[in-house]
Amino acid sequence: MSVSVDPNGRLFTIHTKCSTYQMKADSQNVLLHTYYGPRIDGTDMSYTVTYADRGFSGNPYELGVKDKRYSLDVLPQEMSCFGTGDYRVTGLRVRNADGSRAADLRYTGYTLEKGKYSLPGLPAVHAADDEAETLTVRMEDPATHLQAELLYGVLEDQDIITRAVRITNGGEAPVALEKAASLNVDWQFDSLHQITFQGRHCMERNLVRNPVDHGVRSIGSVRGTSSHHYNPFTIFCQPSATETAGECWGFSLLYSGEFQMETEMEQMGQTRFVCGIHPDNFDWPLAPGETFTTPEVMMSFSDAGLGKLSRNFHTAIREHICRGEWAKKRRPVLLNNWEATYFDFTGDKLVSIAEEAKRLGVELFVLDDGWFGKRDDDNSGLGDWFPNEKKLGCTLRELGRRITDLGLLFGTWFEPEGISEDSDLYRAHPDWAVQIPGRAPNLSRNQLILDFSRADVQDYIIQRMSAVLSDAPVSYVKWDFNRSVCDKFSGALPAHRMGEFAHRYVLGLYRVLETLNERFPHVLFEGCSGGGGRFDAGMLYYTPQIWCSDNTDAVNRLTIQYGTSFGYPVSSMGAHVSAVPNHQTGRVTPLQTRGTVAMAGTFGYELDVTKLTDAGKAEIREQIACFQRFYDLIQSGDYYRLTSCDAPCVAWEFAAEDGGEALVSAVGNRMEGNAPPSNVKIQGLQPDARYEAKICLTEQTPAPMAWFQKELETWEKRNRGLSGAALRNGGLTLPPIWREYQAWQIHLTRLPEGR
Ligand code: DGJ
Repeated sequence: MSVSVDPNGRLFTIHTKCSTYQMKADSQNVLLHTYYGPRIDGTDMSYTVTYADRGFSGNPYELGVKDKRYSLDVLPQEMSCFGTGDYRVTGLRVRNADGSRAADLRYTGYTLEKGKYSLPGLPAVHAADDEAETLTVRMEDPATHLQAELLYGVLEDQDIITRAVRITNGGEAPVALEKAASLNVDWQFDSLHQITFQGRHCMERNLVRNPVDHGVRSIGSVRGTSSHHYNPFTIFCQPSATETAGECWGFSLLYSGEFQMETEMEQMGQTRFVCGIHPDNFDWPLAPGETFTTPEVMMSFSDAGLGKLSRNFHTAIREHICRGEWAKKRRPVLLNNWEATYFDFTGDKLVSIAEEAKRLGVELFVLDDGWFGKRDDDNSGLGDWFPNEKKLGCTLRELGRRITDLGLLFGTWFEPEGISEDSDLYRAHPDWAVQIPGRAPNLSRNQLILDFSRADVQDYIIQRMSAVLSDAPVSYVKWDFNRSVCDKFSGALPAHRMGEFAHRYVLGLYRVLETLNERFPHVLFEGCSGGGGRFDAGMLYYTPQIWCSDNTDAVNRLTIQYGTSFGYPVSSMGAHVSAVPNHQTGRVTPLQTRGTVAMAGTFGYELDVTKLTDAGKAEIREQIACFQRFYDLIQSGDYYRLTSCDAPCVAWEFAAEDGGEALVSAVGNRMEGNAPPSNVKIQGLQPDARYEAKICLTEQTPAPMAWFQKELETWEKRNRGLSGAALRNGGLTLPPIWREYQAWQIHLTRLPEGR
């Protein structure tokens, strides 16, 4: 059993393979958070909690006279409440019927069950009954009878614990939730660094590492989506933690809307972390008997560094968040026409690209934006999900058939949440667009947003998309969303419930996605929001891959994919080879480099392959064959970051679980004269086995320097027969780089014993 409860039913110890998490209901029925760290025995860790008279940190009334040392303001807690003596950032803020903002939840009981709870209408980690346990801890405010059920899902083997909260108004008067966080973790003594991922459109998930210090640091989004700007994934770690050593805690919020992650170091140097729905656009009335459920947080701990922590999340997302046919099924190598044609295409042009793509080994042709309504630029047509047969020269079904007759799968693009003012849908239903009466709406990409909080809008989109997906032979859908949500207002909500809008929008989005997944289990859904503006574990429950960024520049992608890899697996990251000069940065990189970088993702192409030279086509054929050969290693092997994304030569590795083989990829990031060699410490191999190192994917442009060719000729010979232990500790010195952005892919295979 991964969860143990003491005989009094007050001490709860959760064990995973490498971690222990503990909480205890104390003498006042306050639920103390007593431990989260390396796996220990069942010791009651509340001995670490100290009590002292802390001036200006008040005491509960019943204890004030007897014990001035007991204060909610300094105790580590599982469920912190605003307004009753805890002055730190707190997880729950309510507005009671009398106008007071006070809640005080105390422990009342628990239940322990086999299996993992689910959250109707929300994404949640799933597991078979014998893989997980659910601990439900119940609390209640004795004054108002507001109740909370803290749900903990435990996946012992995966080192994963989840937490969500169900809040019920058990009283007789209405209350409103102003803030309902999913999680509260308190560290009493640790000095910590926090890693967050910030960005912008075309440059998502840049890693930022800061020491935690006094004050409150808050990241989040009030943009309707999880956003390009901050990601709902964060890590805390020891200041000395590296990729391979040190204690680290990771928290991934399964939510695709507005979120907040607050970190506070308080007066005693303790660190509190609170995360959940962003409270700025949230106000949720609860009538007596009504329940609100928060999104889920998935957390993991590693005492072996950041790399191990990331791999815990990779496995959990692949196996316990992604669902359905495509969670495990081999994903096709795709070609998307966006950067090849933008809006400027005809059916014949698309077919000619598809024909060439097929010859090169592509498996799925994706028709991006512009196939519907009046849509020759981004100023009109959104919402009119009827094929533009004049532009295509045929029906979508016929075009799909022409593509599938080539032996390719056919996929297409939707932006279901978008609506253009210049569209038939807007003309018919102006009230379906999100806007505040009497106020001009904020435009972005010259488009508005469909009110996904409304059931009639959700139903319409389900019906319209179903019609298209049933008519044409569609195996893949790219679900895009190209703006932030402003003007938070719904004509379908009364004024006093407008604070529900932002969350109801996300619930509506999830309902549509869930229904379409159920109806079309064979369709592979890829998420997208102007690239990676909604790249979160919540979306991955519905779309097992997400377009990582609108920036396809291979060098910028080193940074974007590096940051993304901390919380998300390679199998979730949409990555394509595009043309040079790159359309976002103007940079020219070798085709080999673009292929190597895209192979650290779901892999595909996004360029007009009919315009390639014969040499370029040959190289793409070789790339696709290479990706197919290493598919399992890349998509489900163990992923190691061998360098940071700022290194002169950026390197990463995929290793087989049994250590029998590994694929090392490296890209020259910064060219310097007389450059020092790059040496990387290879991980995940068997220490005693010996390996052969082979350079795959040949560089098409031969180096002009003779010394370089010579070096290459002897490189494989010199690096043959090295042991896993040598490669781990002495490292592998990479072949030299002779030109900017050159890439290497090196396949390490175990040699039979004695050779
Ligand atoms: C933004 C996406 O990220 C692009 O890949 C492309 O699909 C465009 N939208 C189409 O409008």
